[in-house]
Amino acid sequence: MEKKKIRMGIIGTGMIFTRHYNGIMASKDAELAAICDSNEEALMKKGAEVGLDSSHLFTDYEKMFDSGLIDAVSICTPNNTHVKMAKAAIKRGIHFAMEKPVGVNYEEVKELNEIVKKSNVKNMICFTYRFKSAARFVRDIIKNGDIGDIYHVYVEYIQDYDLRPFSFSSFWRFEKNVAGGGVVYDLGCHITDLVTFMTGLDYKEICATTDNVIKMRPDPVTKEMREVNTDDYCHMMTKFNTGATGVFIISKCCLGRKNYQRVSIYGTKGAVIYNLTDKNLEDNVEVCIGKPYVDSYKFDIIPTPAEFKADMMQSFFDIVNGCPDGLAAEMDEGLRAQYLMERIVESSEKRTWVDCSQG
Ligand SMILES: NC(=O)c1ccc[n+]([C@@H]2O[C@H](COP(=O)([O-])OP(=O)(O)OC[C@H]3O[C@@H](n4cnc5c(N)ncnc54)[C@H](O)[C@@H]3O)[C@@H](O)[C@H]2O)c1
Repeated sequence: MEKKKIRMGIIGTGMIFTRHYNGIMASKDAELAAICDSNEEALMKKGAEVGLDSSHLFTDYEKMFDSGLIDAVSICTPNNTHVKMAKAAIKRGIHFAMEKPVGVNYEEVKELNEIVKKSNVKNMICFTYRFKSAARFVRDIIKNGDIGDIYHVYVEYIQDYDLRPFSFSSFWRFEKNVAGGGVVYDLGCHITDLVTFMTGLDYKEICATTDNVIKMRPDPVTKEMREVNTDDYCHMMTKFNTGATGVFIISKCCLGRKNYQRVSIYGTKGAVIYNLTDKNLEDNVEVCIGKPYVDSYKFDIIPTPAEFKADMMQSFFDIVNGCPDGLAAEMDEGLRAQYLMERIVESSEKRTWVDCSQG
């Protein structure tokens, strides 16, 4: 008998919609059943684009949940809406794939995690870079012990996105009460999660400085200049639970960089480098293994084997269908990221190292 497809809804028809939509369309395990956006014009436009009948279009997500049309939902709206939407989904037994970060503060995410734990609802937090095959390959190399014990992790995650006068579609990314924070919440949660994913290291202490380069921006609607109360860069040192140490450079004000990630991991037996820099390197990793001074000074570029290919939305459907590979992030990891974001901001505000081994 053919397996029943997971009937998906998507809330939010903005920039990230396409990634979820493409993932649903590419899977044999799911189908798009409904979409929701509080902006009716945007909703109608997207509905026509994806060919959904008006009875499958909703401006109110609770009405979509109550329609009986969907089994699971992608939450693709601004950060301060995620937790309330997830709670409403859980109430109705609707599984959810949630965009990052989970929320705008640790307390609301902690409470949500407790609710998730008491429910039978499945969830995934969309830490996208866990699905880059090169990241999975690096993870495997480290797990196999090929580079030995890790001494240092040097990380760059930089973009030019905040050099534009305003964000993609609205001002919300520059409003602390909506976004939670700036670059720390938008990119920091990705990269701190990715480093733990690849290396297995967890954060013990951090010392960060975060601020904004651009203090005033035009509101895309009113065109008036508004003060920005979110950060657009973060520089951070870390001590990990094993004694390894790291340095993170995170910024959205780097001209020439679209979505540049480079993570260099140096261990007792070798080094491995993950790149999301250009198409020639993206699916490769750079590896140097050998005795210091003797066989080193040469990084080989190794293509990522096909077995490491993964798709984010398929991973969610596998979670819902009870056959996860265990590599996608769920609410516990979302909560950990939320805790770290708050500690990063705390460290910057207090101008000191902070402990982040709890939470
Ligand atoms: N995983 C990634 O790499 C990645 C990349 C980009 C964005 N994101 C995340 O995706 C989320 C959305 O970002 P975006 O860039 O698509 O934003 P966006 O501003 O482009 O789109 C958000 C959409 O949500 C709609 N919306 C807002 N409040 C709503 C509500 N209460 N009910 C229904 N619809 C509502 C808006 O009308 C808009 O169409 C954010 O949490 C962001 O951090 C993740």
